Amino acid sequence: TIPIFTTVGSYREWRRRAFDERQTVGFVPTMGALHDGHLSLVKRSLLDNDLTVVSIFVNPAQFAPHEDLTTYPRTLPRDLELLTALSIPNLDRTASAVFLPTVQEMYPSGIDQDVTNQRGTFIEVKGYGHQMEGRVRPTFFRGVATVVTKLFNAIEPTNAYFGQKDIQQGLLLRRLSRDLLLSHPDPAHLHIIPTARDPKDGLALSSRNVYLSPLERQFAPTLYSALKEAQNAWSDGNDKSTCIRKAVERIEQKQREASGVGVEMKLDYVEMNHSDSFDVLEGEARQRSMGDHPIILSGAIWVGRTRLIDNVILGDE
Ligand code: PAJ
Repeated sequence: TIPIFTTVGSYREWRRRAFDERQTVGFVPTMGALHDGHLSLVKRSLLDNDLTVVSIFVNPAQFAPHEDLTTYPRTLPRDLELLTALSIPNLDRTASAVFLPTVQEMYPSGIDQDVTNQRGTFIEVKGYGHQMEGRVRPTFFRGVATVVTKLFNAIEPTNAYFGQKDIQQGLLLRRLSRDLLLSHPDPAHLHIIPTARDPKDGLALSSRNVYLSPLERQFAPTLYSALKEAQNAWSDGNDKSTCIRKAVERIEQKQREASGVGVEMKLDYVEMNHSDSFDVLEGEARQRSMGDHPIILSGAIWVGRTRLIDNVILGDE
């Protein structure tokens, strides 16, 4: 079985040995309710590192008061089974440790559920956390940046792994690592791994998919198919407004079908953003997609009471 550390102190003893023995440590932070998306990150870490640490912590600071902190799926026994069973052919490695802190351990001075409260220690990547997902969830990235900084300080990973499913989170944390001069991990060792999808219909795997009823589940892949359609239109040389319109039309058509069978579906947004600034792509200038910083095409829809997000990179197929 995999050793479980519930305190920073006990983990640090283990970490010191890894430093002494010059073993590399890969780190996969999660909120649990593990699925194949999480496991794909763990696999990458197993391949790249001598040791792999997975954290499971449902971080209160990244949930707004009206969000699903209390109902967020918690499946610890199953999570541990999945991690124990995970192996890679011809590679004699499994996850080396699970970090499972309490809220008190992560927030020693306590944590105020009132997110408007300004008292406390926070990390904020100013100007980057209020676009895209941050527009609808204004304190979300402050909560993420704060907890991940704490986790990085506790775990001291050589490499850290994040999913493209939450592209803004990964890019924002890479910027944080650069701006705070972090060495564990340094920005080059913060990796963003492609989104794991349901092989049948492309739905991005998510812990929140369990909220979907069977009927809602049928309509959940709408966002991805709309994004793919817009991505293909972009590859065909269409301008931004044409691509977005195609995506929106696809969603609206599915929305009518869904409402016919009593499923309420709502578009939150579909947008193109620069991946360096997260600024909305202005105008139609296609040449802006060139260079090191590709354009992110992302969106969010509501299917019933569940909010789903997804994204693709323009130019990627
Ligand atoms: P969580 O939603 O549990 O996701 C943990 C990691 O798994 C994130 O890096 C996320 O992008 C990745 N992930 C989720 N679904 C994926 C998929 N279908 N394919 C590939 N990767 C996927 O993201 C968080 O937790 C939290 O914000 C956290 C970083 C742990 C901070 O609290």
